[in-house]
Formats: sequence, C-alpha cells, structure tokens
Amino acid sequence: MITLAVLISNYGTGTNLQAIIDAIKKKQINAKITVVVSDTKEAKGIERAKKEKIKVDFSYKKEELLKILNKYNPDYVVLAGWKQIITDEVIDTYNSRILNVHPGLIPDDMEGEVKNPDGSLALWNKGKLAEKAIQNFLDQKATYAGSSVHLLTHEFDFGPVLKRTFEKIKKTDSVNSLYARIKNKEHEIYVDVLKQLSGATILVIDGGGRGSALVKKYLESPLVSQVLAAPGNDLMLVGNNKPVRVFPNVKTTDIKSIKKIVIENNVDLVDVAQDDAVQAGVTDALSRMDVKVFGPTKAAGQIEWDKAWARNFMKNNKIPIPAYKICKSEGQGIKFLKSQKESEWYIKASGLALGKGVIYAKNNKDAKEAIIKMKKFGKSGETFLIEECLKGEEFTSFAIVDANKFIIVGHAQDHKTIYDDNKGPNTGGIGCNSPPKAINKKIETQIESIFEKTVSGLVKLKRPYTGILYLGGMIDKKGKVFVIEFNARWGDPEVEVVLPSIKNDLYKIAKMVINDKIKEIKITKDNLYRIVVTACAKGYPIDNTKVIGKEIYNLDNLVKDAPAHIQVFGAGTKVRDNKYFVAGGRLFHVMAEAKNVQEARKIAYNALSKIRIDGNNLHYRKDIGYRDLKR
Ligand code: AMP
Ligand code: GLY
Repeated sequence: MITLAVLISNYGTGTNLQAIIDAIKKKQINAKITVVVSDTKEAKGIERAKKEKIKVDFSYKKEELLKILNKYNPDYVVLAGWKQIITDEVIDTYNSRILNVHPGLIPDDMEGEVKNPDGSLALWNKGKLAEKAIQNFLDQKATYAGSSVHLLTHEFDFGPVLKRTFEKIKKTDSVNSLYARIKNKEHEIYVDVLKQLSGATILVIDGGGRGSALVKKYLESPLVSQVLAAPGNDLMLVGNNKPVRVFPNVKTTDIKSIKKIVIENNVDLVDVAQDDAVQAGVTDALSRMDVKVFGPTKAAGQIEWDKAWARNFMKNNKIPIPAYKICKSEGQGIKFLKSQKESEWYIKASGLALGKGVIYAKNNKDAKEAIIKMKKFGKSGETFLIEECLKGEEFTSFAIVDANKFIIVGHAQDHKTIYDDNKGPNTGGIGCNSPPKAINKKIETQIESIFEKTVSGLVKLKRPYTGILYLGGMIDKKGKVFVIEFNARWGDPEVEVVLPSIKNDLYKIAKMVINDKIKEIKITKDNLYRIVVTACAKGYPIDNTKVIGKEIYNLDNLVKDAPAHIQVFGAGTKVRDNKYFVAGGRLFHVMAEAKNVQEARKIAYNALSKIRIDGNNLHYRKDIGYRDLKR
C-alpha cells in the first residue's frame, strides 16, 4: 500500500483525480489518497474528493506547499493539473517521488529522441503546456500525439519517464478532439504507473488447482498488487480482494505469448509452476530477458520430464530406488520381462504424459500388455521403464531449493485412484492430507538425506535447481524410504494442503531465493491438520465428456464467501454470469483445516454435501485422510 497526495487546480475537471480514485476503488492500485491539495477553491476536483471523504487542503502560494505536504508525508505526490511552480525545496524533499503527466513525448535523456509507432520522430513539446502542446502536434503535422508520465526533476518538462502513450492524429482532429482522446490515455497511464509503484505483479504459469493455490497465496502478500495466470482458470477470478487476470488462450509452453504478458504488464515475478512449462524452457527464456523467475531450468527439470534420465541420476547419486530397466523398444521390454520371475511391475513412459503414463501390472502378462500400450503416449513413450513394484506407504515431500541449499517445507499424502479403498484407475491425484502421521523424525532424516544428495548431484552436473522440488516417496515395512519420482513443481492437490500451512509471505520467499538469500528464510508453519477433497465430473479419468457443460449448483457461496477454515481452489470449472459449469475432469478442490483429521474431514465433507450436478454427476472420494484416521 502506498499513500498519495494528489495536487489539483482549476485547469481541467478533475478527471485524472477521478481516474485514480476509481482505480483505487477497483483495487487496481494498492494505494490511499491521504490528501488532495488545491491552489484554489474553484478546482472541480474538490467536489470529487469530498464525495469520497478524502481530505482537501489548500496551498495558495508556492511557498506553502512543502509544509502542507509534510503534514501528510505521502509516498508519492501526484500532479493532476497543478498550475503552481513546484519549488526546488519540494523537489528535493520528495526526490523521485513526484509524478507528472506531460502532453508530449519526453525522451530518456536530454539529447535523446522518441520514435512514434510509425517510426517518425515524436514531439517532446518541451515548455508547452496543455492546449499549447496539443496545438503543437497539429501545427507540426505530426502523425502521432502522445503523453508521458515522468518523475519531476529540477529540469523543466524532463525527468525519468515511467510510461508513454501514443495517439494517432486524425485528419479531422481539432485541439479539442485530440486533447479529449489524449486525456483518456493519460488517465490510463497514470493508473498504470501507480499500479507499478504500488505493488508487485506476479504471473503464475498454470491453469489448475496448483495455479489456484499459488494465486491465492501470492494475493495474501501485502507487497503484491495483482496476480496474473496463464492459462489460469475461471475460479481464480472469483472472491478475491485484489485484481486477478487470466489468459485462457495462452498455453503453459507458449513462450512468445508469456513473454508478451510479462512485458505488457511489467510483471515483477513469474512462477513457473507447471511441468510442461519447465520442459519447454519457460524459466530459461524468461531469465535471459532479465525477468525474475521462480522455477527450475529445463536442464534441472529433466529430473521430472525424463524418467529414464532421472532414474540413472538417482542411481549415480546413491538415492534409494526400486530396481528398474530402461527400454527403448517394445521388443527389448518383452525380452527383459521373459528373463524375470513372475512379479508385480510398474511400466512407465519416460516423458511427460499428464500424469497418465504410469501403468501398474499385477503380473508379467499384464506388464507385457502395458509395454504394448506405451505406444499411445507418442514421443513420451518411446523410451519406457519397467520397475520393481514397491510396497508400503506413499507420501510427498516438498523443498524450496536454490542450488546446494534447500528447506523442506511440508509433507502430504495423495490419493491417486478414483474410488475409495484405492480402487479404480489412477488420476492426477484427487485428495490429500497433511501433515501425514507416517512422517516421523526417522523418516524425515532420510528425506533430508535424499534432498541433500539430489540437489548436490544436480549442482555437480552443472544443472543447479531453483524452485520447488517434489519428492514422491514410499516407506517400506522396515521404515526405509525409496524414491518413486521427483517432480519439478508443487504437486496438485498436495500444494493445496501444504501451501496454506506456511505462514510466510510467498512473494518474499520467492524473491529471497532468487536473490541468493535462501539461508535467511525462516519458514513458520501453523499446526493445523488439513485435508483437500477434489470434486470431479463423473467418468473422470476415463471419459467424462457426457458431463461437460453441465451446471454445478451451490458452488457460488462456497467460492465467494467460504466459511472459516475452508478454501476452494478451482480447476476445470467455467464461470458464466455467476453460474458454474463443468469444463474438465478435476473440477475444484475443497480444503478444510482443523485441529485434527476427524474435524478437517467433517468440515470438508459438510461443505461438499451441498454441491450438486444433475444426474448425480458429481464424484469425490469419501475416504480422504483414511490413513491417519486409523492411527
Ligand atoms: P508417477 O507418475 O511416477 O507419480 O507414478 C504414479 C503412481 O504410481 C505413484 O504415485 C505410485 O503410486 C505408483 N508407482 C510408480 N512407480 C512405482 C513403483 N516403482 N513402486 C510402487 N508404486 C509405484
Ligand atoms: N498429485 C501428484 C502430482 O502432482 O504429481
């Protein structure tokens, strides 16, 4: 939040002031106008300020201004049609904190020049005020007019430019018609500049529940003024106290469009949260353009997007793993199986496959069938693995990593199959509990050692990891931890029970990691128990097409006005006119927090019991957290 003093006169009608007031009300700017200062009782803006109960003060002589401003001590002084000369004293006291808009295109340095969008030379209009400046655009037969928001310095009509806007001049333009259009643009750039100054803009690359959890967490930061998400989802737009924008047509791998969003919106931090984006090299591309990015490079992310590479890496670094065989052809796989005793197996496509590339085989015959199915994963299945089937208790752990340093931030247990009692096909994960009771000190020590070996192994390969590292593990009967997989991101829905337990400001954490200060981070967690239940469209994960487009009833209240201890995270749900519709398989996630698993389950399931899709088409597991319920 920044505080503003807006300075007005009887020049215009106070529309710049109004634009700022409106943007604050719409929460586009995280600011408060603590005073409107006028040099005359005649200023039109006074009424506008009074209507909003903003304090109005008067400075009739240029010498009085400093004293008045000092009374309010604003972060920024905004000149909005101010007529008086600003004295050197005021400029020095509010150095780099006085904003002005000038109807001309101010260059970056005194000898510099600005080009119009058509390549012609833009006019500065130095020393020309208001109408005179507009008249100059017409007199000089310029193709474009324009304005600049700049910081006031001791130089006349000059100072660091924060934003420029251009306006094409029409043949029929008069001073009045052209000025009217420019004024509208001036309002926009003033608001844009204040937006920039008032808080950070974050871009989250993800469209599902994971992205929703991240968007919510970043919005909690007082340092963040808006969050963008690509592609994002509709539920991200509901029930927030700050602006959120989504870019549904931008794929997580579309580097060109992501770069455009970053540039056009002055994005301060990009959270590359999704696996395809990591593999596409979004982190690498953005880092090259000097954007702050939280997420691993493509090379570090290979630990997720290439399971064969990852297994060899784990073996080389003496990380406990199941026996595995990497196969490059169907024939090789089948031949290997023949040499093996009858057993249970996991057959895995080596590449990314939307969490669906892993097949369980209860015997060698099923394993052969699974090998034949690898073809359907295209390039991702060209190389595949045959793995020993581990037995035990599964869990997920997360660490924030920067090269050799890491902090473990939480553990969760996912529920993978679609039906209760771990029956039915695997999903991307449809429920979690945290913190799992299975993770005791002994287990945690092993987890730490695994993270240690992993991050140092990656550094040795000159692929230092930055971001969130996901360890999917199995605790066997003897209490030994094995790694099933690493992912280069938060888990979904694991993130929805782990992130809310972290009390720190996520934006601050990300910035500290990027600025090489991970060692200074002290994670504070609450001691609540959380479960998240994922609501799905019936038929998921096999075929839910019949349910697509159906209305989801009673979700509105839960999203907009969630009861205490509940958070809803969107995924495949569309919102139109306050109505909610099925648009995917995993629709939304209901997270509940309480002092224990029993209470958390009660809260979550009570909330879910009110939600409905016609034809009994809403599905969710009723046994989330069952492992800890028994303990
Ligand atoms: P993944 O896509 O690698 O997460 O695998 C999906 C799920 O399959 C994991 O979460 C485990 O439940 C299971 N899984 C994968 N590999 C193994 C293994 N070697 N032993 C036992 N379970 C496994
Ligand atoms: N829930 C498992 C994953 O995100 O990979």
